[in-house]
Amino acid sequence: MSSSLATVSYIVATILFILSLGGLSNPETSRRGNLYGIIGMTLAVLATIFGPHVTPSGYAWIIGAMAVGATIGLYAARIVRMTQMPELVALMHSLVGIAAVLVGFANYIDPAAAGQFTGAEKTIHEIEIYLGILIGAVTFSGSLIAFGKLAGKISGKPVLLPGRHFLNLAGLVVVIWFAGAFINAHDVAQGMTPLYVMTAVSLLFGIHMVMAIGGADMPVVVSMLNSYSGWAAAATGFMLSNDLLIVTGALVGSSGAILSYIMCRAMNRKFFSVIAGGFGTEGSAAPAAAGAQPAGEVTAISATETAELLRDAKNVVIVPGYGMAVAQAQHTVYEITKFLRDKGVNVRFGIHPVAGRMPGHMNVLLAEAKVPYDIVLEMDELNEDFPDTDVAMVIGANDIVNPSALEDPSSPIAGMPVLEVWKAKISIVMKRSMASGYAGVDNPLFYKENNRMLFGDAKKMLDEVMAALRS
Ligand code: TAP
Repeated sequence: MSSSLATVSYIVATILFILSLGGLSNPETSRRGNLYGIIGMTLAVLATIFGPHVTPSGYAWIIGAMAVGATIGLYAARIVRMTQMPELVALMHSLVGIAAVLVGFANYIDPAAAGQFTGAEKTIHEIEIYLGILIGAVTFSGSLIAFGKLAGKISGKPVLLPGRHFLNLAGLVVVIWFAGAFINAHDVAQGMTPLYVMTAVSLLFGIHMVMAIGGADMPVVVSMLNSYSGWAAAATGFMLSNDLLIVTGALVGSSGAILSYIMCRAMNRKFFSVIAGGFGTEGSAAPAAAGAQPAGEVTAISATETAELLRDAKNVVIVPGYGMAVAQAQHTVYEITKFLRDKGVNVRFGIHPVAGRMPGHMNVLLAEAKVPYDIVLEMDELNEDFPDTDVAMVIGANDIVNPSALEDPSSPIAGMPVLEVWKAKISIVMKRSMASGYAGVDNPLFYKENNRMLFGDAKKMLDEVMAALRS
């Protein structure tokens, strides 16, 4: 393939990626967005393999690597459960990070790559390598810790080392100092030591940054690492002089940064304290251990009683959370919604921006169950309507409906806007036990006078509610 054909293919792929992002911004166009992304990526891979930088002698290596990668990817995609998606995404981010690190080292020690540049160009290339490895290493180790936290393999509690801001600052000074040593190195052998030291410091920083973040603040970390992985890919693009990788990385990096900003707003956190790591813990008590002891008395309710309340209601708001995803109850939720709407009940859904375990988690599940988009509302659109709501039905949600976020300044989730379901005439919380949610904090909602608890697996209980409604 000639170099101009490869360039044209890259431009078309770039346009497809932009269209893909545009499509993914709305549930109605997201399938199309996905398709654009798939076509764009296929084009990008083909144009790179058959482009001017790959000689036919490299094909065997590329095909071999692709076969291994595709097999692992296909296997992972097939076995992963919907509730494990966030962990898988975190793991994928770590791969982008390690790729940037490996490409950086390979690029530095490859005599052919190094020989291309002299003078100022050589310095710029070395800065690209240094930055690429740095961002890649932070992304790699940070994403692995995020994976561990999301998968429950590492405790969600923030680990706050004494003098952690000082440690971060010291790390920054070391990295800047060794950048000078790296650029002034006379040969590759001399440059390797600063590169190793910087990589080790960056890996430690990634671990330290994510370990310092408490459970409820993980959504911001997920989107932030998504952004970092984009910048790591863009840095790889600079190292390899590959325009498409630079553009694609920048698209992922900036859209991830916008998502982080949205998440910060949703959690009422400051963007810059997120970047510094360890945010959301100052001034608040240490989070309670998972499964914190409940206090007070709760009123349980049966599926039949729930059906009666729903049948008599005029306005119903359903608030889905992580438990709906675990129970895969979205289809039954929609059946109940259809049934009630046919009877003239105004049923709407209230979506918290961090409900579930990944951005847009609830929207994806409801779209899969074919819930019409016009009755799925954002938290801000719905919060004022709770006083006029007869029944607020909380399905497997906990932290996102916790009043202590607004009422208790010492709570680890203090300041986070929540869906104010307790303002409805009756709220019904559907969950299996009194266990706490992801943030590990007790929920005073359960003990409110106008709250009822419907204990059991969300799918099973909703099936019973549906049966009771029909009978
Ligand atoms: P959570 O606060 O985690 O609460 C989910 C509740 O669902 C649990 O209390 C659990 O109680 C219940 N549950 C689990 N399986 C169930 C089942 N089969 N049937 C019925 N109930 C079930 O979820 P949320 O309210 O959606 O809040 C999300 C939390 O995750 C926030 O703290 C958020 O910060 C965090 N987080 C979000 C993200 C993103 S990007 N969305 C990423 C990482 C972390 P039982 O065990 O008693 O049933």
